[in-house]
Amino acid sequence: MPSGGNIEWESARLFSQLKNISLRPGAKWTLGDCRVVAPYTLEINRLKKEKDAFILAHSYTNPEIMYGVADAVGDSYGLSLAASKVKQKTIIFAGVWFMAETAKIINPSKTVLIPGGRAGCTLADSMTGEDLVNFKKKHPGAPVLCYINSSAEVKAQADICVTSANVASIAAKISGDKIIFAPDMLMAQNLIVMLRAQGVKKEIVYTGGSCCVHDKYTADEVKNMRAKYPGIKILIHPEAPPDVCALCDYVGGTEGMLKYVAASKDKTFGLLTEIGLVNRLEHDNPGKTIIWERGTCAYMKKNTLFNTLAALKEPSARQIVDVEEKTARAALKCIDKMFEMSK
Ligand code: 13P
Ligand code: SF4
Repeated sequence: MPSGGNIEWESARLFSQLKNISLRPGAKWTLGDCRVVAPYTLEINRLKKEKDAFILAHSYTNPEIMYGVADAVGDSYGLSLAASKVKQKTIIFAGVWFMAETAKIINPSKTVLIPGGRAGCTLADSMTGEDLVNFKKKHPGAPVLCYINSSAEVKAQADICVTSANVASIAAKISGDKIIFAPDMLMAQNLIVMLRAQGVKKEIVYTGGSCCVHDKYTADEVKNMRAKYPGIKILIHPEAPPDVCALCDYVGGTEGMLKYVAASKDKTFGLLTEIGLVNRLEHDNPGKTIIWERGTCAYMKKNTLFNTLAALKEPSARQIVDVEEKTARAALKCIDKMFEMSK
C-alpha cells in the first residue's frame, strides 16, 4: 500500500471531489474521511494502468468509487454505450450483474469483472428466459421490448432492449398495435402514460417484476415533502408506481434527472430515487439543496473499494462475468437494436 506524501496528495484530490457529498444524513465527507480511503484509490488507480483495465461505475454506487476510481460514470444506457468503446483488455463494472453481463455480451473477447460478485437486481431476477418464452406464446406475433434490467437469457428471447433513457422513444417507433414489455410492470404502466402523452396508441402487455427500491414510494411521501418544503421540485424514476409519478414534477431515468436539476433555476429538489444519484447531484450542484428521505439499492452497494482492489489483483470466480455463447449472440442482437434505434 502507498504511504506518506502520495496519500496526502490523493486525500486532497478526493476531498475536492467529495466535499459536497453527504457521507451520512447531516454529515458531509471530510478530509479525514478521504485520508481513510486514499490508500485504496491510489492503489486501484495504479493497478488499473498496470493491468490495462477500465472501470465503469453506475450512478448508484458509492461516491468513493464514482469519484475516486471510475473512468466513466453513468446510467444503464450510457454505460452500455461506454462499454462498447472501451479499448482496454479488462472492464471492471461496478454495478449489478445484468449491467456487467451486458458489457460482456458487447465485449465477448474482453475480461469483464464485477467487484461485488453476483450482485443481483429484483427486476432482473424476477423472470427467466423460459418465463418469457411462455409469456410470448400468449401474445403471438407481438414485438418484445425488454428492459435492460433483465438477464442475458431474457434478452436472448426479446427483440429490442430499452432503458429508462429511451423506453418511450423506442416504443413509439415500433410498428404494430401491441407490445410485450418485460420484466418491469411499473415501468410498463408508466410507458402507457408516456405514450398516451405523445398521442401514441398501443396496447402494452407486461410481466410482473418490480424494483425493490422504487416500488416502495408512496403518494403520501410526495405530499409530505411538498408540505414541508414549499416550492420544491420533485423528481422520480419511472420504476416507481404511476400514481406516485403522476404527483411529481419530473419522471425520468438517472441521466434525465441530472440534466433536469442542472438546467433548472429552482433551488430545492426532492429525489425519490437511489441515494447514489443524490450524491451525484450534490457533487454537480453545490448551490442547490437536494432532499432525499429513503431509497438505497443494497445490490449496488455490494461494490466497494476493497473488492474492486481484490478484483484487480486476483479476481475470484464469483467476480468473473461469463455468458454462454449462444445466449450472448442472441442477446447482443437485442442490445444492438437498442443502439440502432437510439440514434
Ligand atoms: P438507469 O437506467 O436510470 O440508470 O436505471 C438503472 C436502475 O437500475 C434503476 O433502478
Ligand atoms: Fe435493480 Fe432496483 Fe437496484 Fe436498480 S435500484 S439495480 S432496478 S434493485
